Amino acid sequence: MPLLRKLMIGTVFFAALSAQDVFAEAPKPADQKSLDRGRYLVKIAGCNDCHTPGYAEKAGKVPENQWLTGDQLGWRGPWGTTYAVNLRLYMQNLSEDQWVKAAKILQSRPPMPWFTLHDMTEQDLRAIYKLIRYLGPAGEPAPGFVPPGQEPKGPYALFP
Ligand code: HEC
Repeated sequence: MPLLRKLMIGTVFFAALSAQDVFAEAPKPADQKSLDRGRYLVKIAGCNDCHTPGYAEKAGKVPENQWLTGDQLGWRGPWGTTYAVNLRLYMQNLSEDQWVKAAKILQSRPPMPWFTLHDMTEQDLRAIYKLIRYLGPAGEPAPGFVPPGQEPKGPYALFP
């Protein structure tokens, strides 16, 4: 076999190997029932209201591929200024089981209703995760937390 051809086969072989490594962590394809449940939950449990830009202003008429990409609008109060995180990126760093564990104990600042995640059933948490991973990564990270007393750069809603 000519050397060039050998090299090419070798390259294809290694490319296939590394692609497999990269995708080893990819979630299993979600079933339709979980996806539908996930859609229902992020709509009615308020996740879209804060984590999807313009969701309330557009009366919920935001295409699904833009859902949960985080928001530039700050929520300012005695806790500082918080931003609804980009959940499409956030979930990429967690396995489904890690998410279920985290959601049962995580605490964050207002106005994130973190305590409602503690009350969600494991099945519902899994459905939300499956939907978000199915939608895939999108958008940019939301701005970082600004401590109390510091002026945020972008727009914010002020709590008394
Ligand atoms: C009223 C607005 C609001 C609603 C409703 C809301 N979030 Fe949030 N969420 C936020 C804000 C603001 C933050 C950032 C909080 C911070 O910086 O401490 C956040 C943070 C988060 C985080 C990151 C928590 C951490 O500290 O790791 C997750 C995960 C999350 N939200 C999921 C959800 C899900 C799932 C729903 C729907 C069940 C939801 N949120 C509903 C505003 C909201």
